[in-house]
Amino acid sequence: MTRRVVFVTGGMGGIGSAICRRLAAEGHTIVAGCLPGYEQKDQWLEAMRAEGFTVYAAEGDVANYESCVDMFAQLRSAVGQVEILINNAGITRDSVFKRMTEHHWHEVINTNLNSVFNVTRQAIDGMVERGWGRIVNISSVNAIKGQFGQTNYSAAKAGMAGFSKSLAQEVVRMGVTVNTVSPGYVETDLVMAMRAEVRAQIVASIPMGRLAKPAEIAAVVAFLASEEAGYITGANISVNGGMHMM
Ligand code: CAA
Ligand code: NAP
Repeated sequence: MTRRVVFVTGGMGGIGSAICRRLAAEGHTIVAGCLPGYEQKDQWLEAMRAEGFTVYAAEGDVANYESCVDMFAQLRSAVGQVEILINNAGITRDSVFKRMTEHHWHEVINTNLNSVFNVTRQAIDGMVERGWGRIVNISSVNAIKGQFGQTNYSAAKAGMAGFSKSLAQEVVRMGVTVNTVSPGYVETDLVMAMRAEVRAQIVASIPMGRLAKPAEIAAVVAFLASEEAGYITGANISVNGGMHMM
């Protein structure tokens, strides 16, 4: 198996850590992105290295283009060119639309959608020049079905899927695939931040009767990032316990 350089944005979060662990276990070199000054960075790196993995960190704010330029300069000097990019960083700022502030609208669009431009722009030319690359964008079931209280989040996540299909067409002859994974509700801080009774109602509505485990999302991401998935591009893979079937 060819060992690749992988960059996972939001790589130290719930789903991000599972993706890093899974791809590291396959022998790849991992760079986990985090916000500048993230306090648990060293602890995270030590824990992953204790498991025998080759991991690095790159600090940057994915919502800010210049910060992404600097982050990729750090990253290239540490490990070289990114061959597998996982756009995973994301936030929620849920509220009913009539109470949604302009700030919360822009915060979510910048972090969850404009980030995909900011980061992918840094990596795509190298992938095309070398004739190989994998990009996986982490969207959401709520991009496809919509969700009460998430006009900002659903719009941003649906935008990711449109981005993936368009870029996939531009680079399809150059060995680069671009796909989207749309998880349902996963056991991470993002879901635990919801009010307990709202969360309980949502869990009760999931046909499989439970939240997803981060490793169940990571397994699908790892497949799309593999050599074997070379004929899959522009796809949007749902991993949602039957919550929304297309
Ligand atoms: N459909 C229709 N009506 C609903 C509803 C729904 N899904 N959910 C709530 N309502 C109703 C309520 O019954 C309530 O009605 P009354 O005023 O008649 O009592 C009214 O709408 C207001 O609801 P809340 O009390 O919940 O309003 P709030 O302002 O306190 O909270 C909210 C609003 C923060 C959006 C809250 O409803 C909420 O957290 N909803 C869930 C949002 C969600 O799913 N977020 C996912 C986070 S994790 C994630 O995003 C990962 C991923 O990709 C899956
Ligand atoms: P999480 O644990 O909160 O992880 C999100 C990560 O993104 C955190 O490490 C966070 O860093 C980082 N991040 C946020 N804003 C950033 C920024 N501006 N620049 C750089 N990094 C930033 O949440 P998660 O559940 O693992 O979510 C990962 C992705 O999956 C998100 O895109 C989310 O929308 C998507 N998703 C999650 C679920 C779910 O149910 N959990 C379902 C569908 C899709 P800090 O912690 O330092 O802020």
